[in-house]
Amino acid sequence: MKVNRICCIGAGYVGGPTMAMIAAKCPHIHVDVVDLNAERIAAWNSDELPIYEPGLNDIVVEARGKNLFFSTDVEESIAAADLIFVSVGTPTKSYGIGAGRAADLCYIESAARMIAKNAKGPKIIVEKSTIPVRTAEAIRTILGANSDHGQFQVLSNPEFLAEGTAVEDLTEPDRILIGGERTPEGDAAVEALVSVYANWVSRDRILTTNLWSSELSKLVANAFLAQRISSINSISALCEATGADVDEVGRAIGTDSRIGPKFLKASVGFGGSCFQKDILNLVYLCEHFGLPQVSQYWHAVVQMNDWQKERFSTKIVKTLFNTVRGKKIAILGFAFKKDTNDTRESASIYVCRDLLSEGANIALYDPKVPVSTIHADLNYVGVSDEVIDRQLTICSSAEEATDQSHGLAVLTEWDEFATLDFSAIYDKMFKPAFVFDGRNVLPHDKLRELGFDVYAIGKG
Ligand code: NAD
Ligand code: UDX
Repeated sequence: MKVNRICCIGAGYVGGPTMAMIAAKCPHIHVDVVDLNAERIAAWNSDELPIYEPGLNDIVVEARGKNLFFSTDVEESIAAADLIFVSVGTPTKSYGIGAGRAADLCYIESAARMIAKNAKGPKIIVEKSTIPVRTAEAIRTILGANSDHGQFQVLSNPEFLAEGTAVEDLTEPDRILIGGERTPEGDAAVEALVSVYANWVSRDRILTTNLWSSELSKLVANAFLAQRISSINSISALCEATGADVDEVGRAIGTDSRIGPKFLKASVGFGGSCFQKDILNLVYLCEHFGLPQVSQYWHAVVQMNDWQKERFSTKIVKTLFNTVRGKKIAILGFAFKKDTNDTRESASIYVCRDLLSEGANIALYDPKVPVSTIHADLNYVGVSDEVIDRQLTICSSAEEATDQSHGLAVLTEWDEFATLDFSAIYDKMFKPAFVFDGRNVLPHDKLRELGFDVYAIGKG
């Protein structure tokens, strides 16, 4: 089996960058990225891509129109492809059975039905989306029941890129994981996909497993990463109570080669489209398979994260003499991490919601997140348009946001925040001038010398 033509269903944060990388590294393969969302496709074909990701623009511009194409022509692209990636969203279900925990597989099912309807010959179908273990079985059943030739091989190939570093992660992945059915046809399909990646990833980094191990490994990888953050965040509260410094503790334990230094940065709480969703999915699966103890164990990771966000908002209110009503508070950062315009599950959304409900006037600045996204995110967590109109101002700089404010809080670790002119900012703030560093990125000693009253996560 040789792959000459690829179709990717879903032109989002995963579909767009991963397919751009495949097109750039495999000039002999024609890559179509298709989506039902015409606005998103138009943006992929424009000078302003729909997602902000360092280095992505160059790769897209290089391959677009040569062997990389973005279109809404889903049916035609499916029919022409040898291999089809399914990279649609799998958000947490918000209704019915499993609401708030299970993954909503409606987009996966609609993609599978579109493939069945339009595929006229043999195809390799690749799950790129993160899905509950054994979803490949459901996809196979839908394909089998709706197609007359039935020549499909379903593979699992989860994506491990992180936003903000997607291009680096795709260029030099720690590993590529491919799961397939352990039959001669399954092995041939796995080898066909391995050959695509082998154009730039060494074969010893391409792991092959059975389908279920691959599907489950994605959920487990995210659960382990998030667990480290919740672990260090739990310790940040203990550091504050005891006078220890969480960065020093992180360094001390991270130099143990068995623990390792990464993902030990305490913060206001993890966000992003994946961690919470995937752990809740794992929690639901464990319950489904009759493993309540395992389910509770992993659920605690999300509960600790929720507590960390609440703890931060409460700290702001308590520090400002138990009332923020009518006070201007500068919020720096709305994205869930630096170098992305993605805000899904960002801690900033919840801290803003809590402060607005306490009556604060929020002056918000983020270098990349559009105003419409901020409004939509706050609406989604229950903040009314009336409150937004009355209490929220979106600013075009950190200086504007902090002017005449009682406190400033850093919610995203954008590099520019560490080097602001804090002396000028201090002069224009009400006194005492409070700083709440939810990312531990500001120069705390310098700020204290200038006269700021500084609270930082996990600093006793
Ligand atoms: P996204 O919401 O940015 O993009 C999904 C796209 O799929 C949307 O543009 C939507 O319009 C499109 N779509 C849905 N149904 C369709 C259909 N039937 N036909 C055509 N298009 C359709 O989502 P994302 O962040 O790219 O995530 C996609 C999957 O990858 C999810 O399962 C996610 O868990 C997983 N994942 C995401 C990341 C990440 O960093 N965002 C990393 C690893 C894995
Ligand atoms: C994550 C996984 O890292 C990636 O492998 C998977 O494919 C998708 O989910 P992403 O959510 O894009 O990637 O970013 P990540 O760097 O993991 O950060 C997630 C959240 O954790 C962010 O809010 C980040 O600020 C926070 N974080 C990360 C910490 O609070 N402390 C850390 O030490 C690391």
